[in-house]
Amino acid sequence: MKLTVSYNSQISFQDNGAPYSLQFDDIYFDTESGCQQSEQVFIEGNQINARIYNSKQPLIIGETGFGTGLNFFLTAYKLLQAITNKDEADVTNIHFISVEKYPLSKAQIAQSLKMWPDLQPIINQTLAHYPDTPKEKCEISLLNGKLKLTILFDDATSALSTLNLAKNGKINAWYLDGFSPAQNMEMWSEGLFEQIARLSADDATLATFTVAGFVRRHLTNVGFRVMKKLTPGKKKQTLVAKFQQASSSGKGYMLRPSVNKAQHVTIIGGGIASACLTYLLVKQGVKVTLICKDEEIAQGASSNAIGALYPLIHLKQDEISEFYVSALLRAREVYDELLAAGYTFAHQWCGLLELSFKEPLQKRQHKFEQKPVWPENIILGVSAAKASALAGVTLNNGGMFMPQAGWIAPSELVKVLFKAASDIGQVKIKHNIDVSEISQKADNRWQLTTNKGLLEASVLIVCGGAESNLLRPINQLPLTPVRGQVSEVSTEHYSQQLQTVICHKGYMTPVHQGKFCIGATFNKNDRDTHSRADDDQFNINMVSEALPELPRIELSHIIGSKARLRATTPDHLPIAGPVPIIKEHTEIYGKLAEDKNWKIHTPAPYYKSLYVMSGLGARGLCSAPLIADILVADLCNLPYPVDNKMRFNLSANRFIVKDIIKRKLKPE
Ligand SMILES: Cc1cc2nc3c(=O)[nH]c(=O)nc-3n(C[C@H](O)[C@H](O)[C@H](O)COP(=O)(O)OP(=O)(O)OC[C@H]3O[C@@H](n4cnc5c(N)ncnc54)[C@H](O)[C@@H]3O)c2cc1C
Ligand SMILES: C[S@@+](CC[C@H](N)C(=O)[O-])C[C@H]1O[C@@H](n2cnc3c(N)ncnc32)[C@H](O)[C@@H]1O
Repeated sequence: MKLTVSYNSQISFQDNGAPYSLQFDDIYFDTESGCQQSEQVFIEGNQINARIYNSKQPLIIGETGFGTGLNFFLTAYKLLQAITNKDEADVTNIHFISVEKYPLSKAQIAQSLKMWPDLQPIINQTLAHYPDTPKEKCEISLLNGKLKLTILFDDATSALSTLNLAKNGKINAWYLDGFSPAQNMEMWSEGLFEQIARLSADDATLATFTVAGFVRRHLTNVGFRVMKKLTPGKKKQTLVAKFQQASSSGKGYMLRPSVNKAQHVTIIGGGIASACLTYLLVKQGVKVTLICKDEEIAQGASSNAIGALYPLIHLKQDEISEFYVSALLRAREVYDELLAAGYTFAHQWCGLLELSFKEPLQKRQHKFEQKPVWPENIILGVSAAKASALAGVTLNNGGMFMPQAGWIAPSELVKVLFKAASDIGQVKIKHNIDVSEISQKADNRWQLTTNKGLLEASVLIVCGGAESNLLRPINQLPLTPVRGQVSEVSTEHYSQQLQTVICHKGYMTPVHQGKFCIGATFNKNDRDTHSRADDDQFNINMVSEALPELPRIELSHIIGSKARLRATTPDHLPIAGPVPIIKEHTEIYGKLAEDKNWKIHTPAPYYKSLYVMSGLGARGLCSAPLIADILVADLCNLPYPVDNKMRFNLSANRFIVKDIIKRKLKPE
């Protein structure tokens, strides 16, 4: 590259010391709230504060328009604060790569930022290494190598096109700064967005102050999912995006359809899945019609008197546990939001104890305590004495305690979610309509055959729990009904009252309205929902085996029992997303049977406007909000709340792709 760089003479300083570009007739940053705006738009827009604490991977940040370096210095300041507050080893390394066509000199940068005393130490350290005379590139290492700054002094598109980043060194977060597109069209070229896509890591985030339509379109075209974000400051609206539709990854089967935002959706359901989905869709302005076969909502699996809110956590950080931990946090957020808004449902965030009642479980707990892989606010090992104190009864064994778990009355929660949804937007609930068949018409609308005649839906989502797979084409997915019976025990004859939920082979809950629950049986492919005395006895026996120290529960103490169906999947993860066309999958991805790493960019074939949310297994209270978020992102074209890998792990076509790889499914 020829050396053509010179320092920018075309700036002036305003009365308050802030720089102004004479060339572009624009400000470098907002003089009143420069720092605050930079923090809101770029740092918060990319969730840098949280990501700084992920020390596993270095965080690579890309910026267009280094200017005064304000965004860089603020990021460096956040990193410095994190190092001061935490163990340095727990804080990520940052590589900040910026491009700048009209660089400012050392003196101009110092002059521009002198109004922020907190930033001065890091500014001074950086400027000590900043070139006195213009160069094509400057590389500075700071904070004992924890922070690296690279500035390419060239036009943004051409500078980025010279970058060759290794697969694990691609950009994780973008700050698209620059003068406003109206003033500086040259920088916001189509080529710039192509370079951004080329250099982005999977799930890279992006934030920019402009919400201009062409910026949104270009970002979408190269594989970002974009969302306008309300910001409190002067800008009001900014843009955030995630790189989640990159056909360049060569795994077309991971791509989901990008659709125009749905205006109205029809949901078959009535349980926690449809309730969370309705609430979260309505919040995005989508109208919902719910079709439920029962006289009232919450009559299926979500009708139990008491259900535990708890994640499935293995004592290693595998993909299943990672999903359920994220799901638990999201569930608490959504349920707490309802409570904060004044809605009520019976619940207690009393924690949950997984009892180590057998030797292998005690060994497992000991192993975890030696080397914990989850933070204590998620799960921790407790001794028998601590467990007894938490449970409020004397226990022989300790166990693994999950402080953020608890119990909920599921049917109350479902009703509250629908109430909150109809208080916000348009929700129509149609009871006593049993859908026996769905089929797609020539105009792509879905026709529903029901006991009340034919209905139509422009977008259809099946949230039918264990009955979802009675409908074609959902019946092609590996959803298995599993009968479970819960028994309700009266406290009249039973004095021991738990203060936390206890899980063993089954579970036992604290008291609510004079009763507590013990459960649950587990019978695959049994669709009978009549309660059975044998099953009550089975539940009693499970408690006696795991908790012989508690007074024995007698069959005569049981005042109610209910059997319902869980919908389970082979990999213990729920399903949320568009419904795949299996035949086309086998045709397009057939070569995966010979080479599972075979690159194919063709997007996965799905039925248009048909989605499913099912397979919530034994933990629907925990998983429903997060998987509903994923469907909302599908239907409203928003960034996904989980990364590409987790999204695929929850998608309906994962089973098909795995079966093709295992040669269980072949083209016809
Ligand atoms: C015994 C037992 C104990 C459990 N304990 C817990 C627990 O402690 N914690 C926990 O998190 N989870 C627990 N679960 C699991 C939890 O109940 C489920 O994961 C959850 O309720 C599933 O919600 P859903 O909305 O998918 O299905 P459901 O609640 O079953 O709702 C499905 C809805 O769809 C409607 N529907 C279905 N098909 C049609 C159709 N063709 N036409 C019209 N309407 C239709 C039904 O009427 C129903 O309203 C338990 C489950 C059982 C059976
Ligand atoms: C709003 S200012 C950036 C503010 C900066 N991030 C900060 O923290 O001060 C926009 C910057 O983009 C630079 N710029 C303008 N056109 C450019 C181009 N085509 N390529 C690279 N940088 C460009 C300008 O010189 C200016 O420094």
